[in-house]
Amino acid sequence: MQFKNDLFLRAFTDETLPRAPLWLMRQAGRYLPEYRQSRSKFPSFMDACRSSDFCVEVMLQPLARYPLDAAILFSDILTIPDAMNLGLTFGVGEGPRFASPLRDETTIRALRAPDLSSLHYVFDAVSACKRALIDDGVARVPLIGFAGSPFTLACYMIEGAGSSSEFAAVRKMMFQRPDLLKRVLEINTACVIDYLEQQARSGADVLMIFDSWGGVLSPSQYEKFSLTSLQQIASALKQRLPNTPLICFSKGAAQSFSSQAQASVDGLGVDWQSDLSQVRTQVGERITLQGNFDPAICATDAESVRQHVLERWRGFNPNRRYVANLGHGITPDASPELVGALVEAVRKISEKTLDKP
Ligand code: CP3
Repeated sequence: MQFKNDLFLRAFTDETLPRAPLWLMRQAGRYLPEYRQSRSKFPSFMDACRSSDFCVEVMLQPLARYPLDAAILFSDILTIPDAMNLGLTFGVGEGPRFASPLRDETTIRALRAPDLSSLHYVFDAVSACKRALIDDGVARVPLIGFAGSPFTLACYMIEGAGSSSEFAAVRKMMFQRPDLLKRVLEINTACVIDYLEQQARSGADVLMIFDSWGGVLSPSQYEKFSLTSLQQIASALKQRLPNTPLICFSKGAAQSFSSQAQASVDGLGVDWQSDLSQVRTQVGERITLQGNFDPAICATDAESVRQHVLERWRGFNPNRRYVANLGHGITPDASPELVGALVEAVRKISEKTLDKP
C-alpha cells in the first residue's frame, strides 16, 4: 500500500523523523459539533456503529479539521461482548450497561466466543474507511484498527455497569474464583486475536489494544490477568501478520512497563501520569512510545498547551520511535480550537531539519 503520509508507520522503524507523527485517542467524538450532528440521526450508539456510512463520515471529521497523521476506525471496544449477547445498551449520559452480566459459574460456563460473522459490520466499516482514505491508489494516512484487551472487556462483562467501583466484582472474582475469570479471559483472547486479524485483512494498517482498566490491578495481578492475554495476542498476531504494527495501551499500569516491553508489541501507550523519558529508560530503544499529553490540556488555553508539550518532551526525543498522542481519550469538554493548538504545537516543536547525508 502506498501512502501520501506514512510518518506514523515510520515511527515503527529506526528512522529519525522530520517531525513527530500525531493522532489523538478518541479523535472522532462528542467534542466535535459535526460529530454530535451526525450522531443525532441514530437512536442508539450501537446502531450508529452498525452503519458503515456513519463510521466513514465521523472517521473523516477530525482529519478534515486537523493535519493528523493517522485515522482510526470508528467503532467501540464493546462490539465483542455485544456479539456475545450480553444485552449491551448505552444510556443517555451514562456509560455502557449489560443486561446479563457474567456473575456466576453457569453464565460463564455458557459463554462462547461469537461467530466472527456477527461482527461483519465492523469489518465492513474498516473496508469502507480504508476506501474513503484512498485516492488514485494512494492512502492519505494509515488506518488504525482496534479492540479492547481481554481484561478490560471482562471488566465490563462481569461488572455489568459503570466503572465507579473500579470493577470490584471482577476483583472479587479474581480472589474467589480465578478459574472463572481465566475462562472469560481465554474466550476473549481467542476472539480478540481473530477480530484484530480480520480488521487488518479488511484494511487496517496498524492495530491497537485498549487495556483501559489494566491499572486497577497490582503489578503481579496485572501480569497474571492482563499481560498474559496481551502476550498471547501479540505473539499470535506476529505470526499471522508479521508486518502489521501492534500498539498496546494499558492505562494506569506504569509499574509494569518493563514487563509490557517483554511482550511482542511494537508500541506501548503511555498514560498522562507517566514520564516519557523514564518510560524510555524502562522499555529500551526498540519500542515505539505513544502519548502522553493530559487530555485536560484541551480545555485550558493555547499557551498552557504549548508549555505542556515542551514539558512532556523535556529530555525526550520525539522524532524517533515515538507517536505524539494524549495519555487517554479526548474528553467531550475539549475545545476544538485548543485541539488545533495542540496539533500545531506538536508540529512546530518537533519539526527538525534532517542532516543531509
Ligand atoms: O476516534 C475514536 O477514537 C473513536 C472510536 C472509539 C470509540 N470508543 C467511540 C465512542 C474508540 C477507539 C473507543 C474505545 C473505547 N470504548 C474504550 C477504550 C478507550 C478509553 O477511553 O479508555 C472504552 C473503555 C470504550 C467503552 C465505552 N464506549 C464507554 C465507557 C463509552 C461511554 C462513555 C464515553 O466515554 O462516552 C463508550 C461510548 C462511545 N464510544 C462514544 C464514542 C464516540 C460516545 C457515545 C456516543 O457518541 O453516543
